[in-house]
Formats: sequence, C-alpha cells, structure tokens
Amino acid sequence: MTAPTIVLVGPMGVGKSTVGQLLAERLGVGYRDTDDDIVAAEGRSIAEIFVDEGEPVFRGIEKRAVHKALAEHDGILAPGGGSILDADTRALLAGLRVVYLSMDVEEAVKRTGLNTGRPLLAVNPRKQWRELMEARRHLYEGVATAVVATDGCAACQVVDRVLAVL
Ligand code: S3P
Repeated sequence: MTAPTIVLVGPMGVGKSTVGQLLAERLGVGYRDTDDDIVAAEGRSIAEIFVDEGEPVFRGIEKRAVHKALAEHDGILAPGGGSILDADTRALLAGLRVVYLSMDVEEAVKRTGLNTGRPLLAVNPRKQWRELMEARRHLYEGVATAVVATDGCAACQVVDRVLAVL
C-alpha cells in the first residue's frame, strides 16, 4: 500500500491544482486531483453531479474517489475542498503529510469572483464563503501537519512556502 507524499487540503479556488502541479514538477513526482478522477469516472462535470444527484450523493462519490486515491497514489494529492467533511476521510489523513492552503474570505471572493459558477457559491458568494470557511476551517486545521497562508501570493510563492514547511 502506497501513500501520498503530500496531501494538499483547503477551500476551492485556493490554488490546490496549480500549486500541486508545480510542486509535483519541483519534487519530480506525480500529481493527482480527485475532482478530475470523479469527472473521468462519471463522464460528467462536478456541477452536473450536484444538479443531477444532489450534494449527499456527490459526497459519497467523492469519499470513494478520495479513499481510492489515498491508497493508490504516491505523489502530490489534491482532494476536493469538501472531502474533509467526512470523518472517515479525516481519519485516513492522520499520519500523512497534509498541508492546508488557507485564504481569508475576501481573498476567496477576489479569486473566484462574485459569479463563481460553483454549485456551493451560486446564491450569495460572499456570505456563502464566510459560512463555508467558518464551518470548515477547524476541520482543515485538524488534519493539517502544516498551514500555508496564500493571501496575496502567486502560485510559485506558495510552492516555495510549502517546500519551506516540509
Ligand atoms: C467542493 C470543492 C470542489 C468540488 C465541489 C465541492 C467543496 O473541489 O469538489 O465543487 O465542497 O468545497 P475543489 O476544491 O478542487 O475546487
């Protein structure tokens, strides 16, 4: 059984994919994103799964995809931002090197815009971001072995910060 070198957790839009790919290049390892795994396996977008099936069904699909990737992948892994809502997933992350990429609400609104096209931010993004961060911050902090603040940073600076905390 293999385990990821580094798991990147944090909210959508924080830059897990961009930072993860740059980090993988710098470390000479592979990169895997569980949203991509889900889209490939399901043959439809994440937004379509939310609309067609609702969030609880998506979370079940996501849980299976994350557990599979945790068991198979030995490079950089970026699970979807909501995957830490699941207690079994949080338990699986214990003992792994998990970096929480954090950002504050205003940074989140700036990065994703007010018209996000994301299912969880479709109504009132600023309010929804605030609620989402309040509900999840402690979960991200709970699984993280290191926290890297990304506010105002370009992806390459974030990569340097991640490498510095490893
Ligand atoms: C979600 C994050 C998204 C995607 C879905 C739900 C969340 O992934 O799985 O839109 O609940 O935070 P990214 O964090 O990769 O954008």
